[in-house]
Amino acid sequence: MRVNGTAWRTIWPLDDGRAVGIIDQTRLPHAFETLVLSSLDEVAHAISAMLVRGAPLIGATAAWGMAVAMAHDASDAGLDHAYQVLVSTRPTAINLRWALDDMKAHLAPLPAAERAQAARARAAQVCDEDVALNEAIGTHGLGIIRQIAAGKAAGERINILTHCNAGWLATVDWGTALAPIYKAHDAGLPIHVWVDETRPRNQGASLTAWELNSHGVPHTVIVDNAGGHYMQHGQVDMVIVGTDRTTAQGDVCNKIGTYLKALAAKDNGVPFYVALPGPTIDWTVNDGVAEIPIEERSGAEVTRLWGRTDEGALAWVTVTPEGSPAANPAFDVTPARLITGLITERGVCPASAQGLAGLYPENTPAA
Ligand code: MRU
Repeated sequence: MRVNGTAWRTIWPLDDGRAVGIIDQTRLPHAFETLVLSSLDEVAHAISAMLVRGAPLIGATAAWGMAVAMAHDASDAGLDHAYQVLVSTRPTAINLRWALDDMKAHLAPLPAAERAQAARARAAQVCDEDVALNEAIGTHGLGIIRQIAAGKAAGERINILTHCNAGWLATVDWGTALAPIYKAHDAGLPIHVWVDETRPRNQGASLTAWELNSHGVPHTVIVDNAGGHYMQHGQVDMVIVGTDRTTAQGDVCNKIGTYLKALAAKDNGVPFYVALPGPTIDWTVNDGVAEIPIEERSGAEVTRLWGRTDEGALAWVTVTPEGSPAANPAFDVTPARLITGLITERGVCPASAQGLAGLYPENTPAA
């Protein structure tokens, strides 16, 4: 995507793939800053401290983390160590394990002397594939938005609600939930996006709003509790969110608060779609509520807010009384029964084992 006229991806190789460049997402929307990661530990820190985040980008960064690690130590022990360090950075997004398993499968059979070069080549491919998958999701999602537009008067606003950030910043490019929105906007459809702020880290208010603003997509930031109200008043035509892990039966794990939006959408007859690339499906898991590990993050993310003061300084402020404990589950699970459809790179399907099997026959137990 373009930022001030320049095309960017969220991650790119440097020094012939011995290091990578990233956008430091903890600085947005106040500053657009890039960083160089040139060691395994720096890459692992960037993922766990959420300088990069979003399931597909976590996977892509892990792939590059393996490449950076192989440049320093391509032995069998080095390969296992890099895998272990990276896989323990964040527990919920399955793209992390998908990317690391993929890298290991490519690298383990090779002689150590060939691994660094092969790792660079495969990490670059993982990134290119992510861009292609997301663009295809955009095309399929655009079809759904066109159908909604067809039911409205010409020029009437199409209101789409999204939660968290599943835009290009959460992937290598395009995004998942935002890819159809970019395509619809670029096609001239009168899109307007309700952007959930997405406490506690405010990925909606900080990142989604910044993305949409940079691209000129009309949008309004709302507090997390406002979506149900707008749905009751007929001001939400559809919801599109991303996902960190979708189970083989179509349950969707995504940023905390997604489940409540799905309940409100069901109660109000608002279509609720989830956009995802194939690597976000965990074929080993069926019941999302019972089986997906939910990341528990620091309570300090709940008790404090980070932002710009009226004087222009970046600062933390505390919003709770001293001594009040806080809990911070980072994700929740929306059961398949609440989901209208899954928008994948292969098309749109019902959120069910049968729906996913129809699009991914090679991954189903019968295959
Ligand atoms: O904690 P984050 O910011 O990594 O969570 C991101 C999300 O929940 C996204 O919605 C999800 O990863 C899909 S990104 C295309």
